[in-house]
Amino acid sequence: MKTIVPPLKCQGIKTKLVPWIREVVGDSFGRWIEPFMGSGVVGFNMQPQSAIFGDSNPHIIAFYKGIQSGQITPKVVKAYLQEEGELLRNAEEEGYVHYRFVRDRFNESGSPLDFLFLSRAGFNGMMRFSKKGRWNIPFCKKPDRFAQAYVTKIVNQVDTFAKCMKPNWSFVHQDCLATIAQAQAGDVIYCDPPYLGRYTDYFNNWTEEDEAKLATALHKTPAKFIMSSWHHNDYRENTAISSYWSDFNILTRDHFYHSGAKEENRRSIVEALICNFDLNGFDAHNHGITERPQQLILLEQAEKYKTQQGDGPNHHAFGTSVMAPA
Ligand SMILES: C[S@@+](CC[C@H](N)C(=O)[O-])C[C@H]1O[C@@H](n2cnc3c(N)ncnc32)[C@H](O)[C@@H]1O
Repeated sequence: MKTIVPPLKCQGIKTKLVPWIREVVGDSFGRWIEPFMGSGVVGFNMQPQSAIFGDSNPHIIAFYKGIQSGQITPKVVKAYLQEEGELLRNAEEEGYVHYRFVRDRFNESGSPLDFLFLSRAGFNGMMRFSKKGRWNIPFCKKPDRFAQAYVTKIVNQVDTFAKCMKPNWSFVHQDCLATIAQAQAGDVIYCDPPYLGRYTDYFNNWTEEDEAKLATALHKTPAKFIMSSWHHNDYRENTAISSYWSDFNILTRDHFYHSGAKEENRRSIVEALICNFDLNGFDAHNHGITERPQQLILLEQAEKYKTQQGDGPNHHAFGTSVMAPA
């Protein structure tokens, strides 16, 4: 299945990991719960019937709500980008003067269209905000950034995303813990938190304490979850894995990030998918830990009980058993 590409860009975007995540999630599941939606590329590609997309960044949520409500349409985006693209092309300092104008306007009004402009005209597809919550990415230094072909590409991305949105998808500006608290048995949660010790900004100030709270919430959830993290890179291991996640099943895979100002962030990294369900058929490893967590044991008992009661096991939704027999 072809991966659809979102109109918004951000660092840590998981476009290249979508096929892998889709394979692990399986074909059918209950509600899709995504507490850290970012660009939205993962959830949109899963095409759930019902979903909750959350993020602490209100601009992301306002943008997708705008598409869902019909305020932001391909036609509106085309007219906007053509007009702003022309102003950019003719602006002094090779376009920088107009880039700054849009940036300042966005910082005052928070317009979702200006947000799209900045996301697509900023350096290296990055999304970063200052300590005061203001857009903090420099111009990509291409005055003709919004040439016709590029405008068409973005308009098509908006069109594709608009067409695949379902009425039962909600976009919420809230903390990840509030979104996770909405998950029920049968739902699947996909978490992609900011990576500890890597990027930080106004909306991505991710601390050890946040990681600990997330781990507590995911240990308790009755839903199935998949969490993206990094395992190690050329320089070091992610110690958060052994501190918080080693009692779950973990898959790893090499990934190369192209975006990021720091050279370290552009190098290859071993990505991890941490799951609270069995990974039959996948080359999972648990870093030598064989004891299964209490949460998995309880889930298995609940599934067995339901089957005995003739209620049908939830795990059929995943096309795989929730976990291997003890
Ligand atoms: C790594 S990005 C997610 C990228 C996304 N999976 C994609 O492929 O585009 C992390 C996202 O988490 C959001 N975020 C950071 N802290 C958060 C929190 N405490 N609660 C909810 N969202 C948060 C950020 O605004 C950012 O959009």
